[in-house]
Amino acid sequence: MYPINPDRTKPWNDLPLLPPARELYEDIQVFTQLGNAKASLGRLQGRSIAIPNQGLLINSISLQEAKASNAIENIFTTDDELYKAYSEQQSRQLEGPAKEILNYREALWLGYEYLQGDQAFDEAYFIKMYRTVSQFNDGIRPPVAQIYIKEGGSGLNAGKASYTPPRGQGIIEAKLQNLIDFLNDDDQYPLDPLLKMAIGHFQFEAIHPFRDGNGRTGRIFNIHYLTKKGLLDYPILFLSRYIMDNKDDYYACLSGITQKGNWKSWLLFMLKTVEVTANITYNKINDIISAKDAILDAVILENNISRPESLVSTIFTEPFTKVKHLTDRGLYAENTARKYLDELTRIGILEKRMIQGNSYYLNLELYRILSE
Ligand SMILES: Nc1ncnc2c1ncn2[C@@H]1O[C@H](COP(=O)(O)OP(=O)(O)OP(=O)(O)O)[C@@H](O)[C@H]1O
Ligand SMILES: [Mg+2]
Repeated sequence: MYPINPDRTKPWNDLPLLPPARELYEDIQVFTQLGNAKASLGRLQGRSIAIPNQGLLINSISLQEAKASNAIENIFTTDDELYKAYSEQQSRQLEGPAKEILNYREALWLGYEYLQGDQAFDEAYFIKMYRTVSQFNDGIRPPVAQIYIKEGGSGLNAGKASYTPPRGQGIIEAKLQNLIDFLNDDDQYPLDPLLKMAIGHFQFEAIHPFRDGNGRTGRIFNIHYLTKKGLLDYPILFLSRYIMDNKDDYYACLSGITQKGNWKSWLLFMLKTVEVTANITYNKINDIISAKDAILDAVILENNISRPESLVSTIFTEPFTKVKHLTDRGLYAENTARKYLDELTRIGILEKRMIQGNSYYLNLELYRILSE
């Protein structure tokens, strides 16, 4: 049996170490759903290899994950603002929601890079992710920080407590170290990686090692766990979108473990999240690839445009293109670049927008696919 938290208003210093007992999750429904999730994920992974211009297109896709994860905390922003901000590349010069989203996206890549090669999950990884998403400079919260999770909604310390994480000198560190060992040591803890991801995410949220940003850090962790364990080559799964759309269930399932020891519902929820989002992402990639092929054909028909492949690649790197993006790549001289972008605007592929005195060219089809 999983010990239940006796008082949700008091720090749960008895949060059990991992792993949970096998009988808590070994269940036919869980294994059936695990099979479905793995099949969808495998199909996505297979398809993602076919993405032309990989790293670049993936930037646009990962921006969607960032947007969704941040929306959970009620940081909303329009796609327009977001993409404009993104095409400026530099989050430092931004303020407000767009900046938060770019911070998240930056953390997605930073953690992905950090975990390349032999680098295993460690405390420094979690702190790095926390600092990047929250823009705070501290680390694990000190024993004096009195935090709790409020009932039925995100955010800390407002309303009744649904859960109060452990507190005290060395306690958080010890539980985090146990989580890290569980994640890294597959010999001692031989469990399917999708189950380990879901168990790890719960445990991270239950430890709640930071004063804020634990939700975002934990959701970034999910994706990094999949890339680290080789289930995905790139951090391109929109898990946060589904989690946000089902936020009440997400919270209820987390509380279900601490209050009822109900691991099964939690695992089913997370496995469903993987299945649904892998399918959505798979379809999105297909749509983007088809749109790109169709637009390339149209551009080639124009036959006065040189290097059509490179031009089309660039406008599929991100939804907003600037003349500078083409000249920076050494593709064309400035006048030619502008002429081509205007030409693509004339034939309805791009839409020209003036924002603060600068011209941006919006790839209408890519924008539509990413926004839907
Ligand atoms: N009952 C619960 N037990 C454990 N963790 C929970 C529970 N309810 C919610 N959480 C987690 O706590 C997170 C909120 O914590 P925190 O404010 O530190 O993170 P955040 O990233 O700032 O917020 P958000 O996830 O709302 O964007 C939720 O996203 C969820 O992951
Ligand atoms: Mg918060």
